[in-house]
This record gives sequence, structure tokens and C-alpha cells, in this order.
Amino acid sequence: MRRTTCCKCLFTLFGISFILIFIYYCNINSDSIKNSSNVLNLRNEKSRTKSVETIVISVVVCDSRFNESLNVIKSALLFTKTPLYFIIFTDDNLKPKFNRTLSQWKILTRNQLDFELQRINFPEAHKEDWLNLFSKCAAQRLFIPKLLTHIDAMIYVDTDTLFLGPVDELWNFFSHFNSSQISAMTLEDDNPNISWYPRFAKHPFYGKYGLNSGVMLMNLTRMRTFGWVDYATPIMLKWKLYIPWGDQDIINIIFHYHENAVFVLSCRYNYRADQCMYGDACADATARGVFLLHGSRGVFHNQKQPAFQAIYKAIDEHVVGSDPSKSLLNNMEQFLSSASPSNCGNLKDTLLRLPIKTLNDLYDAPKR
Ligand SMILES: *[C@@H]1O[C@H](CO)[C@@H](O)[C@H](O)[C@H]1NC(C)=O
Ligand SMILES: *[C@@H]1O[C@H](CO)[C@@H](O)[C@H](O)[C@H]1NC(C)=O
Ligand SMILES: *[C@@H]1O[C@H](CO)[C@@H](O)[C@H](O)[C@H]1NC(C)=O
Ligand SMILES: *[C@@H]1O[C@H](CO)[C@@H](O)[C@H](O)[C@H]1NC(C)=O
Ligand SMILES: *[C@@H]1O[C@H](CO)[C@@H](O)[C@H](O)[C@H]1NC(C)=O
Ligand SMILES: *[C@@H]1O[C@H](CO)[C@@H](O)[C@H](O)[C@H]1NC(C)=O
Repeated sequence: MRRTTCCKCLFTLFGISFILIFIYYCNINSDSIKNSSNVLNLRNEKSRTKSVETIVISVVVCDSRFNESLNVIKSALLFTKTPLYFIIFTDDNLKPKFNRTLSQWKILTRNQLDFELQRINFPEAHKEDWLNLFSKCAAQRLFIPKLLTHIDAMIYVDTDTLFLGPVDELWNFFSHFNSSQISAMTLEDDNPNISWYPRFAKHPFYGKYGLNSGVMLMNLTRMRTFGWVDYATPIMLKWKLYIPWGDQDIINIIFHYHENAVFVLSCRYNYRADQCMYGDACADATARGVFLLHGSRGVFHNQKQPAFQAIYKAIDEHVVGSDPSKSLLNNMEQFLSSASPSNCGNLKDTLLRLPIKTLNDLYDAPKR
């Protein structure tokens, strides 16, 4: 008797669970059908909601860099599943434009991003010197550790960069820092024949070849402890006539005296035309794909590196919220194929490898 009651109980329980699971799946499906026209079909919905942390990315944007900076933000969203928090330092006339566009993108990506807008802010004492260094407001990032006291760590990128893989991979390097490292960057290059710093620099710089600061992991907590911001002004005043690359040179001077504070990233995390225009100079990118493309010297917009321009154009044309799994890759492929030949263009597979892999991992195969 007891046994049969127990069996009935179990049976009922199974029945109820089954119905609950069924209802749950029906809901998920009807939701994704309702929103399938304007919302991405992410395969792994669950891991997104319980993701461990938010990734913080910061850009400094003045003047004509607005469109370009939206594309680096768009590229980060395209290839990343983890929620992204953007901190944008910008002038007053661009703020409302950022607010409008990013608020819209936030809805279109179902809160994949959030953002805050900060004003350009230099110390009063030498404001003119700072504003005239390299390009207007470029040196802003040197002061970020003191300006963002609510942030532990962030990835700084120049506006002329594009992610081609999931930002998580770059963010993970923070956990590889040893106790003296406060920041991670790539080298400017590592070929003595073409390297700029050893041949031309009139100031101290990091290591043998110097650092490129277009991509910079900044552990702000550690930079504050290090006293980073206090180094900046005296170094600028001492070297301002000898530092053509502005803030990058100041970073190199600081790290010249603190080599143990730098984690050096592979060239694939800050891939510039220098890495391909004289032939293949970044073996890691050839082996594993370019992770981040840096269009320095205007190559996303001028005609000098058609392959860089092709990738930029494909991302520029992507509409946030639409499914990139087909159109984006098709455009990249097509724009690269029709670009005029170049050494960098010969490395088409190196450029496409990560976008193809990442989008395949992130998105369902298109439904019939
Ligand atoms: C579907 O889209 C509508 C309007 O864009 C939104 O209000 C709703 O929350 C979305 N549903 C889901 C499950 O995201
Ligand atoms: C920025 O993009 C908008 C819209 O796509 C376009 O109308 C405008 O000309 C672009 N501005 C620059 C400086 O490229
Ligand atoms: C964006 O604009 C809205 C409406 O004007 C405002 O409430 C919000 O604080 C602004 N957001 C940022 C980050 O400036
Ligand atoms: C940055 O450094 C602080 C102090 O060492 C540490 O607590 C924190 O976890 C680090 N942040 C990241 C993202 O690694
Ligand atoms: C630098 O130039 C020398 C002489 O032309 C050449 O033998 C060497 O392979 C070059 N090194 C690199 C890394 O390209
Ligand atoms: C951390 O790594 C850097 C680079 O390899 C090295 O120079 C430094 O001595 C290391 N610091 C510690 C505390 O091990």
C-alpha cells in the first residue's frame, strides 16, 4: 500500500516537473520568436545572465573621432558575450550624441552594455601644455587613475582600434599579473631594422623597442598605489620638447624606470600596419589570428592600407541589433577580396580567423 502511494507521488512529481519545464521552454521560444527580428539570437543565454563580472572599457574621444569611437564600441559588442561597461571621456558637444546612440544600443542589445560619460579634465596648473600634447585630449588617460576612483581596472583603447575577438580574452590577462605589474601593453615592435624608438627617440623608453599604448590594460587600484599620476606632470615638463608621441612617450619614460610594472602582451592584441606592411612580423597573429586591429596613422580612412579599410568598412556598415553571423563575415570577406593588393591584404586569413571563430561560437546557425 505505502509503496503504491509513493509511486503515485513520484509519478505526479515527474508530471509536474515535466509540465513546468515544458512551459519554461515555450516561454523562452515565444520570447525569442517575438524579438527575433531586432534582437540577437545568442546561443548561450544562461551563461550571459550569470556571468562573473563586467568588463570595463574606456575611450577618450574629442573632435572628429566620434564615428570611429562608435565602431570600436560596436566591435567589442559584436564579439563579446560578457556585459560591457564603457567609460567615455569626451567634450560637451559630443556627450548628448553619445548618450543618444549608446542608450539606443543598450536597448537593442538587451542591456549588454552600460556606460558613463566623463568630461575632459586636466590639472589646472599645466592645462595648456596637456591640451597641446600630441592631439587635443589624448593625454587624458594618464590621469584616469585619479579621475575614476570608483573603478578597479579597465581596458583603455585608442579610438582607431577594432576588436576582432571576445574582450574577455584580453581582460583575462589581469589575472596573470604578478604582484609588481600594474599595466599590460604590446611592444611598439621588435625588429631593430625598422623600430622607431631605438633609432629616433631622444628620451628614455621601455626595454629595447618601446611600448605602443594604443591598447592598455590598467589596474587602476595598483596605479593609484604606485602613484602614477604624480609622475606625469614632472615628466611632461622635463621632456615636452622631445616627445612627438605625447602620452605614449610619457608612458614609455615612466616604464623605462619601472620595467617590472609592465606585462607585455603579444602583438596580436594591438596589430598595426607595421606588423604586415613589410611582410609578416607578428607570428602569433599568423598562428592564432589578429585579436585587435589598430588603424594608426589614419589607415582606417585613407587609402594606404586597403585591408585595414576593408575591415573597418564592414564593421561600420553593421547595424547594431541585427544578426551579424552572416552579413558581417560576408562583407569582411568581400571587401577584403575586392581591396587592391597589399602585403597586409595577403594576410586575409589572419584577419578573418577570429571573427569567423567567434561568431560561430556565439551565434546559432541561421534558422530555416
Ligand atoms: C522584446 O522586445 C520588446 C520591444 O523591443 C521588449 O519590450 C521586450 O522586453 C523584449 N523581450 C525580451 C524577452 O527581451
Ligand atoms: C559619421 O557618420 C555619419 C552617419 O553615418 C555620417 O553622416 C558622417 O558624415 C560621419 N562623419 C565623419 C566625420 O565621418
Ligand atoms: C542621458 O540622457 C538622459 C535623458 O536626458 C539622462 O537622464 C541621462 O542621465 C543621460 N546619461 C548620461 C550617461 O549622461
Ligand atoms: C587590481 O589590483 C588589485 C590590488 O592588487 C586587486 O585587488 C584587483 O583584483 C586587481 N584587479 C584585477 C581586475 O585584476
Ligand atoms: C635586419 O636587417 C639585416 C640586414 O639587412 C637582416 O640580415 C636581418 O634579418 C634583419 N632583421 C629582421 C628582424 O628583419
Ligand atoms: C613580474 O614580471 C616582470 C616581467 O616579467 C618582472 O620584471 C618582475 O620582476 C616580476 N615581478 C615579480 C614580483 O615577480
